[in-house]
Amino acid sequence: MRIDVLTLFPRMFEGVFAESILKRAQERGLVSVRLVDIRDYSEDRHRTVDDRPYGGGPGMVLKPEPVFKAVESIPAAPGEVVRRILLTPQGKRFDQAYARDLAAADHLVLVCGHYEGFDERIREGLSLEEVSIGDFVLTGGEIPAMLVVDAVVRLVSGVLGDAESAEFESFSRGQLDHPHYTRPPEFRGMRVPDILLSGNHEEIRRWREEQSATRTLARRPDLLVDGEGAAGMRSAECEMRNCGRGSRAVFSSEFRVPSSELEEWGSSPPPDRQSQAGARMRDPGQGEPR
Ligand SMILES: C[S@@+](CC[C@H](N)C(=O)[O-])C[C@H]1O[C@@H](n2cnc3c(N)ncnc32)[C@H](O)[C@@H]1O
Repeated sequence: MRIDVLTLFPRMFEGVFAESILKRAQERGLVSVRLVDIRDYSEDRHRTVDDRPYGGGPGMVLKPEPVFKAVESIPAAPGEVVRRILLTPQGKRFDQAYARDLAAADHLVLVCGHYEGFDERIREGLSLEEVSIGDFVLTGGEIPAMLVVDAVVRLVSGVLGDAESAEFESFSRGQLDHPHYTRPPEFRGMRVPDILLSGNHEEIRRWREEQSATRTLARRPDLLVDGEGAAGMRSAECEMRNCGRGSRAVFSSEFRVPSSELEEWGSSPPPDRQSQAGARMRDPGQGEPR
């Protein structure tokens, strides 16, 4: 995959792209990252890239000329799938599904805004996908671009050593990941769950599925909303095969949460709802929650 990042601050990327998985992906030729300094495309000897906003107001606005020239200077190889992205808090929210989608491209072009933002004609004239990393405002698009590159590159085929590690992590199957433990078996009175030391791989797999489901329901019930949307009604309804003791645990359709209530929960349901969630995790055939 080729990645071009257009920025006023290329040096900000040096440390992030020169470490760990991003570094290895480049060394192994799976990804090539190029940092393009938008100032190099400025049309005056002062390398001006911004100006005051028409109509007045605070801050400076990124001028259209250097950004157009910088984007248009990037060649696309014949037949390659190019995704051109403008980082903006007004864009579509970036998430794991978006990262997966971008990881299928051959070439990403990321344009970082700065100051008060960019001249609206950059948005209008360059047909860029507008991507936001969340409902907050940062000083520039550099950190959002790093975040997007990191999330995408680790999904590029061959980048992660263990192919399964991206497949079974949070959000990849619409759920949060299960808890992880390593040695020692006991630390400051906290024990690793016995099942993980049992060597019974089938039981361990079931335990992990259960943990993943219970966590998702407790912390992020919004992830369990069915695909049809069910506007106005959020249902934490999902069937989890092999989740209980040899049969099925079912998030019953009784456990329906009106969207108004779900919003009040924030990131986690109140304790009474959590115990309800736990109760729903019972294996219907066995009675008691595990
Ligand atoms: C200070 S912000 C400009 C915010 C703009 N005035 C607004 O309210 O929409 C400067 C630049 O940072 C980047 N940026 C800030 N927050 C972002 C976010 N949540 N997601 C993506 N990019 C962001 C964008 O490139 C933006 O042009």
